Amino acid sequence: MTTPLQPHDDQAPQAAKILGRRQWPLPRHAVAGAPLLEVEDLKTHFELPSGTVHAVDGVSFRLDYGEALGIAGESGCGKTTTALSLIRLLPSNARIVSGAIRLYGIDLAPKTERQLQRYRWREISIVFQGAMNALNPVQRVRDQIAEPLEVRLAMSAREARTRAGELLELVGIPKKRGAAYPHELSGGMRQRAMIAMALACDPAIIIGDEPTTALDVMVQAQILALLERLRDELNLSLILITHDLSVIAETCDRVLIMYAGRVAEEGSVREVFARPRHPYTQKLLSAFPNIQADRRTLDVIPGSPPDLRTPPPGCRFHPRCAFAMPVCSEVVPPEVTLADGVRLACHLYPAGTDGVPVTVPPANAVGPTVPLVVSPSDPPPERLEEAV
Ligand SMILES: Nc1ncnc2c1ncn2[C@@H]1O[C@H](COP(=O)(O)OP(=O)(O)O)[C@@H](O)[C@H]1O
Ligand code: SF4
Ligand SMILES: [Mg+2]
Repeated sequence: MTTPLQPHDDQAPQAAKILGRRQWPLPRHAVAGAPLLEVEDLKTHFELPSGTVHAVDGVSFRLDYGEALGIAGESGCGKTTTALSLIRLLPSNARIVSGAIRLYGIDLAPKTERQLQRYRWREISIVFQGAMNALNPVQRVRDQIAEPLEVRLAMSAREARTRAGELLELVGIPKKRGAAYPHELSGGMRQRAMIAMALACDPAIIIGDEPTTALDVMVQAQILALLERLRDELNLSLILITHDLSVIAETCDRVLIMYAGRVAEEGSVREVFARPRHPYTQKLLSAFPNIQADRRTLDVIPGSPPDLRTPPPGCRFHPRCAFAMPVCSEVVPPEVTLADGVRLACHLYPAGTDGVPVTVPPANAVGPTVPLVVSPSDPPPERLEEAV
């Protein structure tokens, strides 16, 4: 169940600035004043012989001009499927069942494969986790970057090679290293090359799906710094999918917490990390290791995410939630938007309570009677390290 998305702050000045620097004209049917990206009630399912996997089941969010949105949640919660749905790079057994994916106000969901070519890589592109798997091992890196420029932007071979060299320099790879094959580059370099490929057609939105997960910590930091620099220099908007909440705390403006194919909580990084209200967000944050904090036992979230062929009724988190009430296993919690802009779906926060949980001890609660809510008077921490 979803509610209409609330408008964020006035986007007009930022939109005008970013659109004014675009290299290519906007798509013909772009709606003046429309948000950059608005996903509404998206449902993407997979068909398996054993049943239908409800991987994304009513997800809504919005990405503004120049914004970085982090998407987090345990493995199998539908983060990748959400991202791949945006430009329909889905496996053949997947289907977008319903919902809208509006880019500049144009709904991409009903577009044909051919129509989508105008948007894939040119408006939205993706950097995947495993650069080694995504790069062609028998083609020089430079040629892999040049090829889409020839195919999608009709550049001559010479122009495309020159541009590929520029893109490599942009991501911190010396031009001449472009002659290398992927296996001749380090993991960090390969990921940089992937970012160069994603940037090739000058997209408005880059999606990073766990772009630093396979890298060691130092290289991870370099790649994140690169993404931040590019975002700033190229006026990019970012969707960063990661299970690493510290990456989101460092890099993103807003965060979307997904659980079992649905949105649990969404809001500014500052609000959500300082005052996580959804029991799942609270668990996720307290289960996260923090090298700067005093040594203490990390919380674990009991159980594991459900099989999305047969998700639990009502709130999908109820079998693992310490605050579950009888209503939780029967009724899907509606999404509520609080005064601070945080949106969440949990029966502890019915409409009108504005973020104050219902305090009546639930009859069958097995945990504390009220969820851990940081007092609004506590100063919001700047960084995750201080939040957990
Ligand atoms: N090709 C597929 N066929 C069937 N089920 C799939 C397929 N790909 C992913 N899934 C299922 O969809 C759900 C969401 O997966 P995914 O989007 O990859 O989650 P995440 O990125 O959060 O780890 C999981 O239950 C996963 O098992
Ligand atoms: S209190 Fe109920 S609705 Fe809220 S997360 Fe727990 S089970 Fe879900
Ligand atoms: Mg994934």
